[in-house]
Amino acid sequence: MKGNNDQYTTITACSICRSRTLHKFLSLGPIPLANSFLREDQLSAPEPHYPLDVCFCSTCGLVQLAHVVDPEILFKDYAYLTSTSKPMEAHFAKLAEDIIWRFNVPPGSLVVDIGSNDGTLLHSFQKYDMKTLGIEPAANVAKLAVSRGIETRNDFFDERLARRLCAERGQAKVISATNVFAHVADLEGFTRGVTHLLAEDGIFAIEVPYLVDMLKRLEFDTIYHEHLRYFAVQPLVTLFSRLGMGIVEVQHIGVHGGSIRVYVQKSPCSLSSRKAELLKLEAEAKLGSLKTYQKFAEEVGGMKESLLSLLKSLKAQGAIIAGYGATAKGNTLLNYCNIGTDILDYISDTTPFKQGRYTPGMHIPVFPESHFHESPPDYALLLAWNYAGKILQKEVVYRQAGGRFILPLPKPQLV
Ligand code: TMP
Repeated sequence: MKGNNDQYTTITACSICRSRTLHKFLSLGPIPLANSFLREDQLSAPEPHYPLDVCFCSTCGLVQLAHVVDPEILFKDYAYLTSTSKPMEAHFAKLAEDIIWRFNVPPGSLVVDIGSNDGTLLHSFQKYDMKTLGIEPAANVAKLAVSRGIETRNDFFDERLARRLCAERGQAKVISATNVFAHVADLEGFTRGVTHLLAEDGIFAIEVPYLVDMLKRLEFDTIYHEHLRYFAVQPLVTLFSRLGMGIVEVQHIGVHGGSIRVYVQKSPCSLSSRKAELLKLEAEAKLGSLKTYQKFAEEVGGMKESLLSLLKSLKAQGAIIAGYGATAKGNTLLNYCNIGTDILDYISDTTPFKQGRYTPGMHIPVFPESHFHESPPDYALLLAWNYAGKILQKEVVYRQAGGRFILPLPKPQLV
């Protein structure tokens, strides 16, 4: 990596295979950071914008951002709290159960969650009498986890911390990193840290959004500065085998628009049938070809045009439109498509931290859900599309009264 700015670096080599065969295929920025919601008094100050360019490594197939924003800027103060999302709470309860059941983890084992947020996953492990430790770089979020009774180290996980924790606490039977692995700048150093801290018979569990789903459903808005990489199984096989580790099992799961849960052990292992199935899927989706990504970029451009044309024609008819869910990905979509307060009156969101603030870049006010129910718009642009099923059910009264949702991806659709 080479520094070209004190706030971000531009990569010159692939973060898995170190090859320089990087091909830029999409540019969504420069835009502000997706979770930098603003207070009213910050609205007139200059807002930092960062390039958001995506490239493909034609040697190992890894899709990655071309610029890496300083993690201190990205993660020291964080807006997202896992426990504010009921579906994610339920998801993590199931994940804890799956790990304990599948790998026979005995009570009293040490479970370390990296990027533990407010401790939601570890709370589920505690119900099975596990010893737990969270690692969370965002001070505000780590503090909250501690107040909920989850021991949490306010730090970034790396090799140095792994060695220290190992000396203090011994090795862990389970290390988890859900929606964290794609955020790590030094992927190899991070994974080497995991190999120090993980017991010989331990299991490393990661969850990352799945590239095949992102391409198939045109989920380009899951691209933002925190997500440095867009994983498929093949590049992960390359990464872990370089470090002598092996992928025991892979599950294709529905969260965040389609993700993979990957279980990794410290020694190499043979190909499971599910892993083979996903590798086949990846070959069929032509993930190894630059053309696949160039086509994706073209479709993203087409989607922007059709969404803007729909929204503008609704506005021309006098419709009131609001956003539903002030998601991080929503901020990629709004900034890239240039959708501001001329189109959306407000965005409703259940997260107290976001309410009363303004979205980064487009400065759309975020209101509590009660506002949406008290003065319902004619149309609601569903920015939290990953919860579409649950939200459409929840908002049955709004829909029965004539309110309609706009599902933006893969192409704008009225529901
Ligand atoms: P996530 O996609 O990162 O989990 O974020 C979901 C965001 O959407 C979070 O800010 C909460 C918000 N949200 C709502 O406002 N209403 C809802 O019904 C759901 C499910 C989420």
